[in-house]
Amino acid sequence: MAAPAIIRASHLCKSYNSGKEHYHAIRNVDLSIFEGEFTVIMGNSGSGKSTLLYLLSGLDQASSGEVYFREQRIDRFKERELADFRTRNIGYIYQSINLVPDLSIVDNIALPGYIAGSHANKVKEKAASLMQAMGIDSLALRLPAQISGGQQQRAAIARAMINAPDVIFADEPTGSLNYDHGIAVLDLLTDMNRKGQSVVMVTHDMKAAARADRLIYIRDGKVSGELAFGKYEAQDSPEREALIFSFVAGRG
Ligand SMILES: Nc1ncnc2c1ncn2[C@@H]1O[C@H](COP(=O)(O)OP(=O)(O)OP(=O)(O)O)[C@@H](O)[C@H]1O
Ligand SMILES: [Mg+2]
Repeated sequence: MAAPAIIRASHLCKSYNSGKEHYHAIRNVDLSIFEGEFTVIMGNSGSGKSTLLYLLSGLDQASSGEVYFREQRIDRFKERELADFRTRNIGYIYQSINLVPDLSIVDNIALPGYIAGSHANKVKEKAASLMQAMGIDSLALRLPAQISGGQQQRAAIARAMINAPDVIFADEPTGSLNYDHGIAVLDLLTDMNRKGQSVVMVTHDMKAAARADRLIYIRDGKVSGELAFGKYEAQDSPEREALIFSFVAGRG
């Protein structure tokens, strides 16, 4: 039997209005994200991937349609309820890194933990272990402007993981990383997924996409196809990458 949906969108639409113009970025999407799955979203630049992630995670409001988290409707939440919901359940790795500029790296990472009301010592321990996993433990006391873009990206990833959220959204988490750091991030996401966290990741990269249990392709704001795999095993990667490559080529 299929896993239950952790997030479900129904008739989801999002238009951006600038002046008299309406741009329909998401067009009537019905989509379920299943509990415990590693879901990858692909699609051309401008096809609506980031917009879709904002809507599914409660970071932005749909123009119409519904979003459910474990069958509780979240798109009607007030701002405050939404913020609480996100702190408790969602980790978000943004496409453009947005660390708080005047907080140290360790405080940036720990901040959502403090907001969630977790015990300060526990948050610090968790932040330290995440920084170690990300290879940025020596940078803990620097400000974001004092570290490289790739290091900032890794700090943003650690921040998304601090509350051990049930769902992690990652919008091109490996985009600004070199090969080794990219693999380390993918390994961490894969590991968290094996331990039960659901992952929804946008990527343009075949190697990253190969981590998916399920791949969803977005075109012009609509779901235009999907591909299902079993759980990722490293030895399957080349074969999966080839499959994904031809799947994407057939839709692009
Ligand atoms: N705030 C906004 N106002 C107006 N239009 C927007 C806004 N944000 C996004 N768009 C438009 O909506 C469409 C979808 O944007 P989105 O950022 O979701 O694309 P994407 O698939 O994530 O692209 P990329 O791969 O380049 O990140 C694009 O055409 C974009 O120009
Ligand atoms: Mg995007």
